[in-house]
Amino acid sequence: MTSKNTHRAVFATRIGAIATTVGSAVGLGNIWRFPYEAGTHGGGAFMVCYIAFIFLLGVPVICAEFILGRSSRSNITGAFRLHASHRVWQLTGYMGVLSSLMILSFYSVVAGWTVEYMVQSAIGSLDYGDAAGYHTHFDSFVTGNWRPALWTIVFLAINFAILMRGVAKGIERFSNILMPMLFILLLIFCANSLTMAGAREGLSFLFSPDFSALTPSTMLGALGQAFFSLSLGLGTMLTYSSYFADNTRLGRSALITASLDTVVAILAGVIIFPAVFTFGMSPSAGPTLVFEVLPSIFHSLAGGTVWSTLFFFLLFLASLTSTISMSEIAITFFMEELKMKRRSAVVLNTGIAALFGTLCALSFGCLSDFTLFGLTLFNFFDTATSNVMLPLGGMIISVFVGWKLDRSVLSEQMTCRGATRFRPMRLLVFLLRWVCPVAIGLIFAQSIGIL
Ligand code: TRP
Repeated sequence: MTSKNTHRAVFATRIGAIATTVGSAVGLGNIWRFPYEAGTHGGGAFMVCYIAFIFLLGVPVICAEFILGRSSRSNITGAFRLHASHRVWQLTGYMGVLSSLMILSFYSVVAGWTVEYMVQSAIGSLDYGDAAGYHTHFDSFVTGNWRPALWTIVFLAINFAILMRGVAKGIERFSNILMPMLFILLLIFCANSLTMAGAREGLSFLFSPDFSALTPSTMLGALGQAFFSLSLGLGTMLTYSSYFADNTRLGRSALITASLDTVVAILAGVIIFPAVFTFGMSPSAGPTLVFEVLPSIFHSLAGGTVWSTLFFFLLFLASLTSTISMSEIAITFFMEELKMKRRSAVVLNTGIAALFGTLCALSFGCLSDFTLFGLTLFNFFDTATSNVMLPLGGMIISVFVGWKLDRSVLSEQMTCRGATRFRPMRLLVFLLRWVCPVAIGLIFAQSIGIL
């Protein structure tokens, strides 16, 4: 298959390509969402499902997105148009664009919280004594309306500025420096958490599975988290791989991305749960968990404000590399499908996210009574995308690549046009044809009570 758009930018280096996909995957999903989901779903049982789903379902679907992206050198809708005979497949692309805008909206709210906490730490005013103090403080902050809304907009404005600079230059240079820094900080905090009084209890919460807690909702939560954390199911990995060089090895990149992403999530768990038990907090606090636990950890450290500022700064940067990646979905779609100029596409993407992001921010305060299916707008966007739209997108992509796509495209892409070998080809096809669709279908069916 020849490239459709040979004029498109290509990542300058192979390491840049991997660093950027890792940069997309690693973000608030690992450090904010993973601990809160693990906490509300019983810890160990969630963890086992999560890791199984990452490698059995996540890695094959990343490969599928990579295959579609690099072979078409296009956005998700264009990829389906090129490869599929029927237009119905393109609907996956529209769903992807919609989910990316929904995720960008609520994600920017949480990224805004990190900016608030970074600024507060830096000016030394993030000092509320004990865990209860931090809980009250966070509560009054998120329900306070204008500050969370303002930070959401500030965050989106920064995201906007970076997007205006284009693909290779802006993003690549950025992620190359940042990811190693993030790892080092997490390792230091891990070591600290392991010395806490509640370390044993925290670790056993996370690592010793109680399979009686294995309910359909735990499985759906783990499935959604796996897709969210790997940036899968809406064409992010597809779009990024459309910028990969021809000799980037897809299987290896998929495995590296999934492994590093999982390591970061586990590190976050090892940082959070010992502290939760040390401070006598509840692991099932939900989306606010990390913002109450982390400041309490930093408070107990010597030089707490410095650690705290550094950490929230890094979390903010990790969020940026993720929001850049999700913004690229709608932007490439607007440019290549609606023929917009990059500038207008970036403005439109940011405008939509600013509107819905503000509404999501306010859904903790003055809009908390406005609910959809019993969920606030923030929770609705979060749950609908992670637990429904992403796994559904992943299911369609795996069915398409497993059953419909010409097998020669698969082997051409996985072997870099014959330049390398890809031994587990039959395993990959088996996982894409059977395991991914069936497992996702079963989990859906179970959680709506059909099975
Ligand atoms: N994976 C990112 C994180 O863990 C979030 C993210 C970026 C994402 N792009 C995405 C999630 C696309 C779903 C789809 O923070």
